[in-house]
Amino acid sequence: MKLENKIAIVTGAASGIGQAIADTYIAEGACVVYADLNQGDLKLDGKKAIFVKCDVSKKEEVENLVKVTIEKFGKLDIMVNNAGVGDSAGVLDATYENWDKVISINLSGVFYGAHLAALAMKDKGIKGSIINMSSILGSVGLAGAVSYCAAKGGVVQLTHASALDLAPHGIRINAIAPGFIATNMTKGILTNEGFGNMVKSNTPLGYVGEPQDIANAALYLASDDSKYVTGTILYVDGGWTAR
Ligand SMILES: NC(=O)c1ccc[n+]([C@@H]2O[C@H](COP(=O)([O-])OP(=O)(O)OC[C@H]3O[C@@H](n4cnc5c(N)ncnc54)[C@H](O)[C@@H]3O)[C@@H](O)[C@H]2O)c1
Repeated sequence: MKLENKIAIVTGAASGIGQAIADTYIAEGACVVYADLNQGDLKLDGKKAIFVKCDVSKKEEVENLVKVTIEKFGKLDIMVNNAGVGDSAGVLDATYENWDKVISINLSGVFYGAHLAALAMKDKGIKGSIINMSSILGSVGLAGAVSYCAAKGGVVQLTHASALDLAPHGIRINAIAPGFIATNMTKGILTNEGFGNMVKSNTPLGYVGEPQDIANAALYLASDDSKYVTGTILYVDGGWTAR
């Protein structure tokens, strides 16, 4: 097992990619704090797997999440800033409310998680791993998703800059950039025939990914297999960005 004696937080862990990451970490021996707005259908043992309610756009709630984790498990080794929301507005039709919402969850939420996890790791001398969820839309545009693309691009640069700040402390920080993955977030758009066909035709491997594809990358970045990897953006996108 690759994560024995490791303590991890995964945000947005009640669904999709976050749940697959958290479950994979449990299977590899870690203790995992599943953080989300609601516990939903999660069945956790309350010992190695616990739930903490947290809205990542509220810094006090992220502070509480890290505090509860340290109280319960004594340290933090792995922080996965995965929680996020979709978007369906372009620059002409986006409202200020939509912009504020997407940026506060998808970008500020990642900053709060990275900042507070790094402080907790440094405080205890832990050479931890922080993993941020970006997207292919952090480096290429998509019409009708201006706030989402801006937030995910911000996550890329937050990751690059933080890697330089954290390297002297032995703390690694990387991001994953998934292509289209079948989850609740994409269910609505991928079942639209036109959009689904556009996604498949723009994906060289020719199909939509599954949450476990991203969880496998998140396991690599959390474990010592990636001990010399920091400040990188790991594309898991069926080849989308290779075109
Ligand atoms: N599915 C894709 O195709 C895809 C592609 C690239 C990137 N991503 C990113 O992967 C991450 C996970 O997405 P997913 O596809 O699993 O979606 P999902 O909707 O299945 O899961 C997202 C989870 O985040 C939670 N969440 C939303 N707002 C929150 C908040 N303010 N605080 C805490 N939790 C919150 C939701 O409750 C949900 O459980 C997101 O950051 C998303 O942008 C997804």
